[in-house]
This record gives sequence, C-alpha cells and structure tokens, in this order.
Amino acid sequence: MELHRSIVFLVFLFLVAGETVYGNEKHQGLKKLNLHTYRAFRPTKLFVFGDSYSDTGNNPKSLASSWKNPYGVTFPGKPAGRYSDGRVITDYLARFMGIKSPLPYQWRKIGGNKLRSGINFAYGGTGVFDTGNFQPNMTTQIGYLQELINESVYTKRDLESSVALVTVSGNDYGAYTASGGSDQGLPAFITRVVSQMAINLKVIHNMGIRRVLVTSLQPLGCLPRATVLSSYQQCNATQNLSVDFHNQLLQRVVATLNNNTNDSRSLKFDAPLLPCCMGISVDANCGSVDENGKALYTVCKEPESTFFWDMVHPSQAGWRAVYLALRPTLTQIFY
Ligand SMILES: *[C@@H]1O[C@H](CO)[C@@H](O)[C@H](O)[C@H]1NC(C)=O
Ligand SMILES: *[C@@H]1O[C@H](CO)[C@@H](O)[C@H](O)[C@H]1NC(C)=O
Ligand SMILES: *[C@@H]1O[C@H](CO)[C@@H](O)[C@H](O)[C@H]1NC(C)=O
Ligand SMILES: *[C@@H]1O[C@H](CO)[C@@H](O)[C@H](O)[C@H]1NC(C)=O
Ligand SMILES: *[C@@H]1O[C@H](CO)[C@@H](O)[C@H](O)[C@H]1NC(C)=O
Ligand SMILES: *[C@@H]1O[C@H](CO)[C@@H](O)[C@H](O)[C@H]1NC(C)=O
Repeated sequence: MELHRSIVFLVFLFLVAGETVYGNEKHQGLKKLNLHTYRAFRPTKLFVFGDSYSDTGNNPKSLASSWKNPYGVTFPGKPAGRYSDGRVITDYLARFMGIKSPLPYQWRKIGGNKLRSGINFAYGGTGVFDTGNFQPNMTTQIGYLQELINESVYTKRDLESSVALVTVSGNDYGAYTASGGSDQGLPAFITRVVSQMAINLKVIHNMGIRRVLVTSLQPLGCLPRATVLSSYQQCNATQNLSVDFHNQLLQRVVATLNNNTNDSRSLKFDAPLLPCCMGISVDANCGSVDENGKALYTVCKEPESTFFWDMVHPSQAGWRAVYLALRPTLTQIFY
C-alpha cells in the first residue's frame, strides 16, 4: 500500500498574525511598521483553546480516558490528562517558545508564577459548538480568558507578548452525525462551524494576542477509527471529503484576517495508520478495563514507532513529527 510508506497526516498550520503594529511613539498612528523589521517577536505566554488535540489536563479525572492507564505512559510516566502516551502539540509549541507548558485552566487557582506562561483552556471532546458532553465550548473557553483579563490577571501588555493556539479536530462533526444529521445537510453545517471559528479567531485576535495559530482539520478518513475497517490499510475517501471543504473555508477565513502564513506538510511514518493502543474487542477502547480491572486493550511495544496512539489521537512521536515539520515556519513567523 502506498500509504504504508508515505504520507499520512497532512498538517496545515495557519498562522493568523497581527503582523503590523503602529510603530514607535514618534510616528504613532502615522506609520505602520512590519514587526519583523522593527524587532523580533519574543512571546512569553501561550493561551490554548480547543479539544483533545491540545488539552493537557482540563477534563475531570472521573470522566476522561486521558486520566486512565495507559495514557501518559511515555510522559510523564502515568496518566496526566493528555490524550496521548506523552506530550501533545501544546507542549512542543511551549518548548519552542522556551516556556513551560501552560497550566490547564482547572488548576488556575494554584496561580502565582504558574500563570506566567499562559493558560490552557482546551477541553477534550469539545467543539466550537456544544458537542453534548457538558464541557465548555470554544466560546466559553474564550470567555474564561476574558474574565481573567477583567480581573487583571493578565494585562494588555501580557497579551501583546502572547501566542494563541486553536485546535478544532472535528468533534462538532462527530456530534452532528451522532445526533442524526444528514449527509445533505453536512456542507451547510461545515459552513456554520467555520463561520463560528472565524468569529472566535477575531475575538482572540482583538483581545490583543499577536499571533493566533490555528490547525486545519486532519484527514478524518485516515484516523484509525475510520481505517480499522480496512485493517488500517486505507483511508476512507468519503470521510476525507468534508475535511477538504472545511479546510478550504478555513483558508478563506484566515486570508481575510490581518496577515497569514499557511503551511502544509506531509509526514513520513513506517506504519502511519496503525494505532499503538487499541481495544481487544469492538466494545473496548484504549484504557477500557473489565469489572476486575483487567485491561481490555493492548499496547504496542514501541509507541515511538507509531504515528497514532489510539483510534483518534496522535502519539507523542506523532506530535513530535508534526512539530518538527512545522518548526521552520514557526521560526520564520516568531523570530
Ligand atoms: C505579512 O507578512 C509577510 C511575511 O512576514 C510580510 O512580508 C508582509 O509585509 C506582511 N504584510 C502585511 C500587510 O503586514
Ligand atoms: C457555548 O456554550 C454556552 C454555555 O452553555 C452557550 O450559551 C453558547 O450558546 C454556546 N456557544 C456556541 C457558539 O455554541
Ligand atoms: C469583561 O468586562 C467587560 C467590560 O466591563 C464586560 O462587558 C464583559 O461582560 C466582561 N466579561 C467577562 C467574561 O467577565
Ligand atoms: C467510509 O465512511 C462512511 C461514512 O462513515 C461509511 O458509510 C463507509 O462505509 C466507509 N467506507 C469504507 C470503505 O469503509
Ligand atoms: C485522505 O486524505 C489524505 C490527506 O489529504 C490523503 O493522504 C489520502 O490519500 C486521502 N485518502 C483518500 C482515500 O481519499
Ligand atoms: C495556502 O496553501 C494552499 C495549498 O498549499 C494554497 O493553495 C493557498 O494559496 C495558500 N494560501 C495562502 C493565503 O497562502
């Protein structure tokens, strides 16, 4: 299969940049200067909005698979609220910026210095709209930051040296299908989702955050949950279709914002479609146990060899590969 050797995940990273700034005091209001020619942008805070692709521990332990074994087995060595065997894109982006991975919002009361590198507002399972799991949608997540700004936890100046990461990985579409949404209605729904994303990106940008990074939708037809039907050999073209439409619309949205860079990369993995951790039956998932606590899942010997960790989430190695592919663009945009 050609897929076994080559491309698996086409990653787009759209960087919505508040690129132009009004220049030094003398020329304020007169002249727009490009930040690059003015001084390097050295962000010190990261604010994250989205779903399980960026969540680092917001979901409650009682509800989330991210807090069950064998999640977190590679890093930090036990379940820690990440939907992966280890680090996710949030952690790699923070590392790139030279800051600590931002504290999950649910632990903000710990406060103090810990808030210095920003906050992660992402909750696994959420979408831009409600997805029926009682976790805060993206509008609510953005409202949490607005509250903290109102409470002067973060100042205008803080926001100016901040980056936002926004992940939307398709939970809206899962909820649409689960609630009986029709195939014919899907394009209209995709349009609504991306329009809401446009609103969200503008709100974040208007708060004064300089760079807003937004991920495009990954090829849903290549997730293990879709390829399982072909023993992880072939992507499902039908499920890919809506992804293309979503990403086209998103690209248009981003192009209307101040300035943007758009990066898409292919990644190479030996067994790109195979997940590392999977249920031993159709009813079991990675992390499922029976009433005696016996594992109903298997874990591969080398999580670093697979792009996917479970049926929908990349492994730490997968995220690392995504990060390494995007790093040249990040360098160009940030510094
Ligand atoms: C947008 O960014 C590019 C690359 O950083 C820069 O060359 C260009 O001048 C910017 N455009 C505006 C309108 O700021
Ligand atoms: C997000 O959730 C809030 C609170 O449940 C709700 O009022 C709002 O309508 C939701 N926003 C969107 C865009 O779905
Ligand atoms: C923040 O303050 C503004 C202006 O006072 C107010 O309109 C807004 O509702 C507040 N937002 C939150 C989330 O507290
Ligand atoms: C692809 O996905 C669609 C929609 O979920 C499903 O109806 C179809 O059977 C799948 N096709 C294959 C070849 O797995
Ligand atoms: C699905 O999309 C991915 C990424 O664009 C691509 O590599 C793959 O070939 C597509 N597969 C099918 C069957 O459409
Ligand atoms: C983004 O990338 C796509 C495909 O790589 C390209 O067709 C499009 O013109 C790019 N858009 C911008 C605004 O750079």
